[in-house]
Amino acid sequence: MLSTIQSLGLAGIEPFPVTVEVSLARMVPLFDIVGLPDAAVKESRERVRSVFFHCHYPFPDGRIVVNLAPADIKKAGSLYDLPIFIGLLCAQGVLPDNLEGSVFLGELSLSGQLHRVNGVLPMLLGASKLGIKRAFIPCQNAAEASVVQGMDVYAVHSVDELIAFLRGEAPLELASGVKFEDVTIPPVPDFQDVKGQQAAKRALEIAAAGSHNVLLIGAPGTGKSMLAKRLPSILPEMSMEEAIETTKIYSACGQLPANTPLIRIRPFRSPHHTVSPAGLCGGGAVPQPGELSLAHNGVLFLDELPEFQRPAMEALRQPLEDGVLTIARANARLSYPSRIMLVAAMNPCPCGYYGHPTHPCTCSETRVASYLNKVSGPLLDRIDLHVEVMPVNYEQLVSSQKEEPSADIKQRVAAAREIQQKRFSGTGISCNARIPPSLLAEACPLSPDAERTLRLVFEKLGLSGRAYDRILKVSRTIADLDGSEQIQMSHISEAVQYRSLDRKYWARGN
Ligand SMILES: Nc1ncnc2c1ncn2[C@@H]1O[C@H](COP(=O)(O)OP(=O)(O)OP(=O)(O)O)[C@@H](O)[C@H]1O
Ligand SMILES: [Mg+2]
Repeated sequence: MLSTIQSLGLAGIEPFPVTVEVSLARMVPLFDIVGLPDAAVKESRERVRSVFFHCHYPFPDGRIVVNLAPADIKKAGSLYDLPIFIGLLCAQGVLPDNLEGSVFLGELSLSGQLHRVNGVLPMLLGASKLGIKRAFIPCQNAAEASVVQGMDVYAVHSVDELIAFLRGEAPLELASGVKFEDVTIPPVPDFQDVKGQQAAKRALEIAAAGSHNVLLIGAPGTGKSMLAKRLPSILPEMSMEEAIETTKIYSACGQLPANTPLIRIRPFRSPHHTVSPAGLCGGGAVPQPGELSLAHNGVLFLDELPEFQRPAMEALRQPLEDGVLTIARANARLSYPSRIMLVAAMNPCPCGYYGHPTHPCTCSETRVASYLNKVSGPLLDRIDLHVEVMPVNYEQLVSSQKEEPSADIKQRVAAAREIQQKRFSGTGISCNARIPPSLLAEACPLSPDAERTLRLVFEKLGLSGRAYDRILKVSRTIADLDGSEQIQMSHISEAVQYRSLDRKYWARGN
């Protein structure tokens, strides 16, 4: 007696179909699962056996072999409990063997309740592309599953309920569709709370408008962390596609909050500086996405940058450039998208006051140099805007004058993003920070004055090819904020000024 049930698996966030074959034979009693199962899949045997017992279904006599095909890809997690259980009932003839075109996913409790599993959203989106028309999932995963179009998704509480439905004896609840606009956006801190700091606010506005990386450097208590945490309030709204991409990652690693169908607010991830390279970028024995991918389409904030482990910083270099992190294992290559805006904050020296206008610095030159050198040069080169955050004076702090609210800044950012979307429509690029070399000259027309200034700066400062590219992209964003199609001299000058801090701090004495 043989039965076949469709299920799904995940490699990174890429779904693949899994066929659960169940064979019953009149032989010595044995229950075996093959097809590269991990420990959680193997433990299915005990959960499934217990459900048969507690829900009063006769457990099949003889030899049971479950094969998870394709047999050469590793299967992980507890989601195969439900398809194995249903497969056994079909093989026994308790359920009709007409379940083709339906997929089953779910962990079982010992008493036959369904428990949530990871990765339901990416798996069902994959199933929908494969033409699957019906899915049965745990009711705790109903919110994320409701995003999937063109498929009947049933949210199941218990195996009894599911069996009654499959026998045509009782109806079953469909996971109801959620409109993108109906998902609530939680409130975020506002730039109105930050007194003064006009230069830093301007730099963050440019960064948000073009999705550029930023480094904030300054003395303790000047408001660096405060400024960075307010960045989400001026970032452009997420599109439906972006929200689904980000939600897929959270779903795959089980970090999607309960009852959240979609992540609509751009993520702001702020890992502690003790984070390991795998925690930051992804990886581990059972590969998992890192903070970098959890920040996909949002902000990765590295506060106290020099305190991060050097290997963690170095691991960021490739994904920052490519927007995707690839983990290679002996039998698989997993990719996690990681298109982020990197925001870093740091003090210029161990005591924090190097370059402060009034407070003396107590560090020796060598200590300052060794502190600054903890930040990797190539990482610094990937940061487009270096911003010095100066202390605000007393008058500014106690002033009753209202600061500009984030909503106003966000409007300017949105207008600049709209220009970029029109410019790059059909190219797959969403913002200036991601202009590929092949489009750079076409997307960044320079006025004769601007061209002369850029040449002069390039030769005088001995810039790298990457620094040249990045200055051009930042000028493009400044021009977009200004509503100018051509990049003018003033735009180039402002962009160059954001690349001058590495000279002040890192190239002292050179
Ligand atoms: N411009 C400002 N307007 C209003 N409050 C401010 C400003 N700057 C600093 N503060 C106050 O100071 C506190 C400390 O600021 P914050 O933590 O951002 O400093 P920091 O630059 O990150 O310091 P550190 O280098 O020690 O991390 C803020 O929570 C806020 O209460
Ligand atoms: Mg801070």
